[in-house]
Amino acid sequence: MRKYLTIIIVSLFALAACQQEKPVYRIGVSQCSNDIWRNQLISEMQQSTYFYDNVELFITVANDDVELQHRQIDSLVKQDIDLLIVSPIQTATLTPFVDSIYDSGTPVIVFDRRTGSRKYTAYIGADNRDLGGVLAHYIVEEVREGGSVLEITGLSKSSPAKERSEGFAGVMAERPDVKTMRKHGDWKEESGYRAMQQALTEGFLPDYVFAQNDRMALGARRAAMEQGIDSLHYCGIDALPVPGGGMELVRDSVLEVSCIYPTHGDEVVGLAVRILEGQPFERENFFPSALVTRNNASVLLMQHEQIESSFAHLDELHDKTIETLENLNYQRSLLWWMIAGIALLILVIVISWYAYYNKVRLNEKLRAMNERQRNMTHQMKEMTELQSEFYTNVSHQLRTPLTLVASPVEQLCQDPTITNGARDLLNVTARNVQHLVDIVNNILTFQRGQNGKNGQKTESLIDDFAYPPTASPPTACPQSLPEGKEVDDLPLILIVDDNEDMRYYLRFIFQTHYRVEEAENGVEALQKAAELVPSIIVSDVMMPVMDGLAFCAKVKEEVSTSHIPVILLTARAREEQKAEGYEHGADSYLTKPFSAKVLLSRVENLLASRRKLNELVNAQSKESEIKAILGDKDKTFYDRWKEVMEKHIPDSDISMDDLAGELGLGRVQLYRKLKALTGKAPNELLRSARLQRSRILLERTELTVSQITYEVGFTSPSYFTKCFKEEFGIGPTEGRGVES
Ligand code: FRU
Repeated sequence: MRKYLTIIIVSLFALAACQQEKPVYRIGVSQCSNDIWRNQLISEMQQSTYFYDNVELFITVANDDVELQHRQIDSLVKQDIDLLIVSPIQTATLTPFVDSIYDSGTPVIVFDRRTGSRKYTAYIGADNRDLGGVLAHYIVEEVREGGSVLEITGLSKSSPAKERSEGFAGVMAERPDVKTMRKHGDWKEESGYRAMQQALTEGFLPDYVFAQNDRMALGARRAAMEQGIDSLHYCGIDALPVPGGGMELVRDSVLEVSCIYPTHGDEVVGLAVRILEGQPFERENFFPSALVTRNNASVLLMQHEQIESSFAHLDELHDKTIETLENLNYQRSLLWWMIAGIALLILVIVISWYAYYNKVRLNEKLRAMNERQRNMTHQMKEMTELQSEFYTNVSHQLRTPLTLVASPVEQLCQDPTITNGARDLLNVTARNVQHLVDIVNNILTFQRGQNGKNGQKTESLIDDFAYPPTASPPTACPQSLPEGKEVDDLPLILIVDDNEDMRYYLRFIFQTHYRVEEAENGVEALQKAAELVPSIIVSDVMMPVMDGLAFCAKVKEEVSTSHIPVILLTARAREEQKAEGYEHGADSYLTKPFSAKVLLSRVENLLASRRKLNELVNAQSKESEIKAILGDKDKTFYDRWKEVMEKHIPDSDISMDDLAGELGLGRVQLYRKLKALTGKAPNELLRSARLQRSRILLERTELTVSQITYEVGFTSPSYFTKCFKEEFGIGPTEGRGVES
């Protein structure tokens, strides 16, 4: 969301910025002097910018200081101007510098005064030769025969001064009778004054004074008047229509005539803009001029006043326009901010709506979940109630038969004639009947509690139902053995159960026909199984440390124990629980409560199938038949044993320890394993294999009996013969050539 917001705001700003984009022309103006003519020009230039909204003027005034003008132009160039308007103080001094600016590609307008080269984009100003000529014509017309004229020039080496002189001289040549004197001024009034003083000092009293501008004419007049000379005629140039300007001087008969030297700042700027915009323009532009006499001065002044008032109006209009534009800009930016605000508002509304929509959806989901939970709670409550009802009923039902068991047992316990094993059994029964009575009572108390307080925790109740620890483990009583049997001849049975009474009871069941070993959990049982290699294992499933399933799987994994049949004896009676037991390698699965008879027959059956295997082996059955009875693990073991045994037939000094070691077992483990699988001890099997090999050798080779004796690992031929006879019922020499 924040990303979209940023994009919108940036776009709005960019749009606002686009509105204001327009190229701005930076125009540099270098003025040579500071006087009323130049001021008039500057104010016209500035006013003309009102017509353009993209023109910026950078104006400098050099006060007739050549060095200063050079520095000012340099700084204008550094301000990155697009065009230079220059009015050089003198022709030659600035020429190389202005040329280099022009050469660098910046357009240059030479205005009023020229440089000494043609390297400029355009010239604009009056035709100074023409001006000099116009005034000369006037004087020629007016001056008496043999009269005299004093010419006061502008600053030497400035182009208007030179051109005006040329124009003036050209016409004055028509009147050779008129005496002329030329004095140099510098465009300022003081220089006119000095020039006049010099001429008078030199004894030259002119009829007419031609000063190249009105200011110098005024200075010359002042000098003559100071000497009491008031009959002279003064002619000047500029005829500025401003207060104190040449036009007023002519109107007021201070000067006799003046020639308009137009400023036209507006046209100068107009030409610059045309150049910058790439529009067509003239390279040489001359302003028209006119002679101002006493006859037309007033009219011209009036016209000028009208123009001035129009300009004043224009100024006002300009100020108003600026104000309006500022207002407009303010309103425009206000508008953009408003648009941005509205966009933001829309965004906020959209986000809020989205959030609200999500919240509603979430609430709906929550409501649905709550509803489901309520239903489930309701169902669970119903189920709990049903369960509780069921338990109550069952408990009640159990009480009667329990009472009928508990009281007779109690009576029997008080009978002093019952002793030894029978008494122990009776005690076990009494204790467990009592435990059952407690459980039933607890269930009933719990149900009452559920219906009443509803607060007791399930875990604590389960603890209440747990089997109570026996005060002292009952010891098994030795029972009478079957006739002719020693204890050691009996098969070993390993009983695994965490309940002592159960172990006692199982021992009681088995002890007549089996040797019995006990273990409390899977880990202990595993250790005993590996060490003792029992004939069969009877194990509970739910035990601490290691349960019966894990224990059974481990028994079946170990080579030393994999052949031992395992019966799982458990209260887990469901089909899938039975299946789980078989998946872990159990050979049989019996559920509690069980019948001692059934358990005994299961054990007997499993041992019988072992015995059948032994018989098969004893009867020299085919390998395939023996293997068919064995499990995968035992099959592999049996193959390995055969392989190892066959390999060592010739080794007379091979020990059983060596053979067991090669199979990764201890000697006793190997003995028990093979005894269980084949009914024979390893050494018996080895001897049998040796004799089998010897029989083959007798039948198929020419070797002597004595040679064969050593070939099959016997050390004495006589002992070999004895064993051979025992095994096959005939002696080795008789066995030669007889096919077995
Ligand atoms: C103004 C001025 C005028 C004159 C012109 C010549 O600075 O001196 O009086 O006509 O320059 O360039």
